[in-house]
Amino acid sequence: MYRSHTCGELTAAHDKDKVVLSAWVRRRRDHGGLIFIDLADRYGMTQIVFDPESDRQAHAMADSLRSEYVIRVEGSVRKRPEGMTNPNMTTGEIEVLVSDLQIVSKSKTPPFELDESGSVEAGEEVRLKHRYLDLRRQSVQNIMQFRAKMNKVTRDWFSSRDFTEVQTPIFTVSSPEGARDFVIPSRLHPGQFYALPQAPQQYKQLLMVGGLDKYFQIAPCFRDEDPRADRHSCEFYQIDVEMSFVTQEQIFEVAENFMRDAVSQMVPDKSIVGDTFHRLSYHEAMSRYGTDKPDLRFGMEMIDISDVFAESDFAVFKGALDNNGVIKCIKLSGQSMTRKEIDQITAVAQSSGAKGLAYIIYDPKEGPRSPILKFFSDAEKQALVDRMGAEDGDILFFGADSFDVVTKALGSVRLALRDKYNLAADTDLAFTWVTDFPMFEKDEKTGKIDFGHNPFSIPAGGIKAFEQEDVLQIMSQQYDLALNGYEVLSGSIRNHDLESLTKAFEMVGRSEDEVKSKFGAMYEAFQYGVPPHGGFAFGFDRLLMIFMGEENIREIYAFPKSGKAQDAMMQAPAYIDEEQLDELHIQVSSPRHSGLDPESSDNTSEKKEDSSDEYNW
Ligand code: AMO
Ligand code: AMP
Repeated sequence: MYRSHTCGELTAAHDKDKVVLSAWVRRRRDHGGLIFIDLADRYGMTQIVFDPESDRQAHAMADSLRSEYVIRVEGSVRKRPEGMTNPNMTTGEIEVLVSDLQIVSKSKTPPFELDESGSVEAGEEVRLKHRYLDLRRQSVQNIMQFRAKMNKVTRDWFSSRDFTEVQTPIFTVSSPEGARDFVIPSRLHPGQFYALPQAPQQYKQLLMVGGLDKYFQIAPCFRDEDPRADRHSCEFYQIDVEMSFVTQEQIFEVAENFMRDAVSQMVPDKSIVGDTFHRLSYHEAMSRYGTDKPDLRFGMEMIDISDVFAESDFAVFKGALDNNGVIKCIKLSGQSMTRKEIDQITAVAQSSGAKGLAYIIYDPKEGPRSPILKFFSDAEKQALVDRMGAEDGDILFFGADSFDVVTKALGSVRLALRDKYNLAADTDLAFTWVTDFPMFEKDEKTGKIDFGHNPFSIPAGGIKAFEQEDVLQIMSQQYDLALNGYEVLSGSIRNHDLESLTKAFEMVGRSEDEVKSKFGAMYEAFQYGVPPHGGFAFGFDRLLMIFMGEENIREIYAFPKSGKAQDAMMQAPAYIDEEQLDELHIQVSSPRHSGLDPESSDNTSEKKEDSSDEYNW
């Protein structure tokens, strides 16, 4: 027998019991002849003791034990002496006096410290290369357990409400929209490729045509995107849901109820802000927070003050208004800022495209202070104070430019101030629906109209909406759910009417023939009785990241990809043999094959712009 107990199990109730433990040597301390070892496994840590008085041979052997050796010990449980107990550990009251020791498996010196009692944090590169060691750390174990629980909570929740779990194909066809696809060459069909699904979007809609009525899947999604802190490269998971014969309100209810139950089971120490999830239209979100995924844990809304300064001679404000722009303002309360801090926050605005960041400090002792005050009349100053509710101790920041520049810049300033002054509570979860996204958007450079989001979303008002003259005014029944400044869900009511769907594609310059050839299955299926349907997908990993307070989504995976989209442990991606290439009918002009240095090649330069989350479907 390897073990009678795990390392997280023994308490004073086991006093004098004979036990067998097998686990890893995490930490060793030698004290006046006694050798103490923290023996660790997934369940916890148990202190074991080697005493030369009680077993000379085991004690001598213990001398050779090193970090991360796997050992098996037999011994008896005893209470730790007074003053030596550790109330923070389940096993903190006892230790095991060893009578027999076997070394099961030796270990090289680990490349980084696995004992988390110290403060040494290993670099990410080395951790990822040896992820199997990193996984042994208690904090990483906790994430794995948490993730497993979320899988179960999700599956139980949807299954018990009559949603059918369907596993849709991993090998499918490349799709012309969204992010870049990962493609797989076919051996049996020379020159042809499968693609990995970016999301099971078309399949889940076809399941509705197939009468499944309510579907869910914890679905793997594959996208060839550049990684970001909240966007894992290559693969991630969605809680993917689709329902027939539902309204947007019914879909919201499902997502909200699931979130409430998931929060109470997964993170009972956190609380959802408000009785119902907040709601904002896309335009409101942009205009008040400068983003379509606002963090509503704190205020600091942008307020439009264009009218207050309609007659102003201050060149910055006048220039903006003369160019059909806006002047907006946000208020930071109860903080003082030095000149240097103002410069730093100005740099944030500038890096988001603003030309500057005007400000007024309402100094409690010296009164209002700002280089721009001299440009304002007394009436303007008073109107500003009234509009903003500015008081002593407040600082106002101004943006004056086009709507897009101002909202983006002040939106970044708002978040930078949140981080600097801890304005948002870690324990709060502030959900907000963002609705009424424009169906189409215009590329400023080319003037070309394209889908703003999911082309399969239904336009608000149905097919009649397409009669509208200004296509940019057409809204779609598409929605996102934002949580603490992240987009955690995206979905829509789908356009189930083929005529309307082809019309939508026509609006972006795609002919019916093109729809037929690019979305053949949908085009065909939609001629055989389609139930009205809609759904959503939660970003599974992103939710976990927020629940666990992690700053990088990589932490949420057992085997994450690096910031360069590589698996440092398995060394993927990798070259393959000529033989394999031949079999796949592939000729490669890669750096290795062309004799170039792989490290110096820029392999991203000619690809299309990296897409944002919001555009994928
Ligand atoms: P979308 O592309 O918005 O919608 O994806 C849904 C949600 O998935 C999460 N997400 C990601 N999480 C981690 N890493 C990534 N690289 C990543 N990309 C997206 C986000 C996002 O809100 N089929 C549609 C959904 C639908 O309409 O039903 C879709 O895929 O949290
Ligand atoms: P200037 O007249 O250029 O010295 O600018 C006066 C103040 O207005 C400075 O604090 C600038 O940072 C700020 N400022 C300049 N351009 C803008 C702008 N477009 N929006 C907001 N503030 C600006």
